[in-house]
Amino acid sequence: MLPKHLLLLTITTVYSLPQQKLNPRIFNGEPATKGQFPWQVGLYIPRNTGLTFCGGSLISDTWVLTAAHCLADAFFSIRILLGTLKSTGDDPDQIELHSQEYLYNYDFDPWSYENDVALIKLPEPVVFTDYIQPILLASEEVDAGTGVTVIGWGDTGDGARSSVLTYSNVTVAETCKDIGTVCTDSDPDSDAQNICGGDSGGPLVLNAFTYPVHIGITSFYNGACERGGYGGFTSTAYVREWIKTNTGI
Ligand SMILES: *[C@@H]1O[C@H](CO)[C@@H](O)[C@H](O)[C@H]1NC(C)=O
Repeated sequence: MLPKHLLLLTITTVYSLPQQKLNPRIFNGEPATKGQFPWQVGLYIPRNTGLTFCGGSLISDTWVLTAAHCLADAFFSIRILLGTLKSTGDDPDQIELHSQEYLYNYDFDPWSYENDVALIKLPEPVVFTDYIQPILLASEEVDAGTGVTVIGWGDTGDGARSSVLTYSNVTVAETCKDIGTVCTDSDPDSDAQNICGGDSGGPLVLNAFTYPVHIGITSFYNGACERGGYGGFTSTAYVREWIKTNTGI
């Protein structure tokens, strides 16, 4: 028979897994207004497990940046929504495109989520409008304590789904020091803005309301939305070279 303490140890290890790989969502966010985040992209991705919804960011007139875990096992073509606040695909002002050209970083580690980055090439260059604009990419890490903004569609709490684009002002945290990861705080006692992330693949943005710079790709969160925890983002600066190599941007 196994000694009792050994069993306990095993169970503790299982329950203290560092990260929960669920689809992160915004909690207690604020609805975005039209044109406020014109780089925000909605993605419908066919996978073996079904149709996945993810966020993304327009980084030029031909490239969308998103997370590897969104499309690592994708097949056929990805449906891309640009210039809309709605994830339902029925906005007359939006542009809808389909792409079969995408790639993810082969150094993506599905256990640690290191290098959780992917790119989608648009079938044709998109024309920029007030509602469709690219975002600049960061080449340097942001210090802990900096105020930043996470943007996404999706749940506004554990299991409460919203189809309206939402944002939260959050703070870069010291919490996780994994290589290539930016973390943000989620205060379980706060009624104010709180996150468990934005939709996977979507952006974490510095100066979102003035001179926006893309600093992270929504990747994972630790804990449940309404019980706190932290949001984990692929550091844009960390994967900047990979993006440049593959897009020239
Ligand atoms: C988020 O921060 C911006 C810039 O500081 C501010 O204008 C906006 O009102 C904030 N939003 C919320 C919901 O607090």
